[in-house]
Amino acid sequence: MATKCIINNVVIIFTFSYLLSAQFFLIDSTKNIVNNRPIIGILAQEISHHMNNIYPGLYESYIAASYVKYLESSGARVVPIWIGENESYYEDILSKINGVLFPGGNADFNQTNGFAESGNKIFKIVKRMNNNGDYFPIWGTCLGFELLTYLAADCVDFRCVCSGKNIALPLAFKSDFMQSRLFKNAPEGIIKILQKENVTANFHIKCITEEGLLKVNLTNEYRVISLNNDINGLTFISSIEHYNLPFYATQFHPEKNNFEWSRRLSGIPHSNNAIKISQYFSNFFVNEARKNFHRFPSQNEEADSLIYNYPVTYTGPTRSSFEQCYLFNKKKIIINE
Ligand SMILES: *[C@@H]1O[C@H](CO)[C@@H](O)[C@H](O)[C@H]1NC(C)=O
Ligand SMILES: *[C@@H]1O[C@H](CO)[C@@H](O)[C@H](O)[C@H]1NC(C)=O
Ligand SMILES: *[C@@H]1O[C@H](CO)[C@@H](O)[C@H](O)[C@H]1NC(C)=O
Ligand SMILES: *[C@@H]1O[C@H](CO)[C@@H](O)[C@H](O)[C@H]1NC(C)=O
Repeated sequence: MATKCIINNVVIIFTFSYLLSAQFFLIDSTKNIVNNRPIIGILAQEISHHMNNIYPGLYESYIAASYVKYLESSGARVVPIWIGENESYYEDILSKINGVLFPGGNADFNQTNGFAESGNKIFKIVKRMNNNGDYFPIWGTCLGFELLTYLAADCVDFRCVCSGKNIALPLAFKSDFMQSRLFKNAPEGIIKILQKENVTANFHIKCITEEGLLKVNLTNEYRVISLNNDINGLTFISSIEHYNLPFYATQFHPEKNNFEWSRRLSGIPHSNNAIKISQYFSNFFVNEARKNFHRFPSQNEEADSLIYNYPVTYTGPTRSSFEQCYLFNKKKIIINE
């Protein structure tokens, strides 16, 4: 299984002559090689009602820039992944990048050619890659967390309505949380901050509960790491990971702490400690992507695919909850009427 990754990587990093040298065997035996040029795909989402009102009919999809900056600040580059494409598009792009982030937002999961349908194609491909020994991480944030659980449940929507909008919370860890990959190597200071301070930004009106997870038979597949209560005392899952595959998700938004500044949103913490925990999560996920060795076949194709090719728009003044967005009109989606 792992042999495939290692052989690919040796070809990438070292010239062919190295294959016969002692270095090859050293690398092969230690398996400590990493990809220090990780590229992560962020799945775009159908344009929000707010953005469509501000820029009527101009754009079909978007990515909030905070997710891009969040990953970039931990040493990754970003490519946008379009929604509404065919299987071969997703096969192709996923074979060239090192991880996927499903962002938050407010898309409906039943949208034809939308966020969830595209996410489903990605999820199936990524599961297959991992099962073939090709380590490929996924991170889900907020709606992206809900999407990951929805896809894991074979497209059963088992979310319940709750009130977790615009509040910052500490995490209530499950007793065995130190067995999770997400936290087992976390510095004690980070754990303390997460346990005691209001540092996780919640912006959701749907929740995943432990009862829900049990109902769709996912408790053997996914580790519940932490819980929180909404303003009415409803207990929801706030972080989760797959037991075997590198899939992670949080109901809260680590990227907002350092990159979203709307004065209307009192639930975004900006303290020094809030920034530290945000950076903990971005460092963790980007480091997972460093364990994957996919690459673009040429530097030109890589350059043409990166998000640097697209302009960023200052959307904060439009009363958007995002300071900056990448707004795309490149790809058509069919809107349900
Ligand atoms: C899939 O979509 C791409 C464009 O994104 C197109 O070039 C390709 O022909 C399509 N493939 C199939 C099998 O429809
Ligand atoms: C899609 O989902 C939304 C929200 O869950 C719902 O209001 C809408 O009726 C659904 N549309 C269709 C076509 O099923
Ligand atoms: C955290 O927020 C809650 C309200 O959501 C508040 O009651 C509590 O005092 C806050 N804790 C700290 C340490 O600021
Ligand atoms: C529940 O999931 C397990 C795997 O985690 C599977 O073996 C079992 O058959 C599933 N049960 C049902 C009722 O689907």
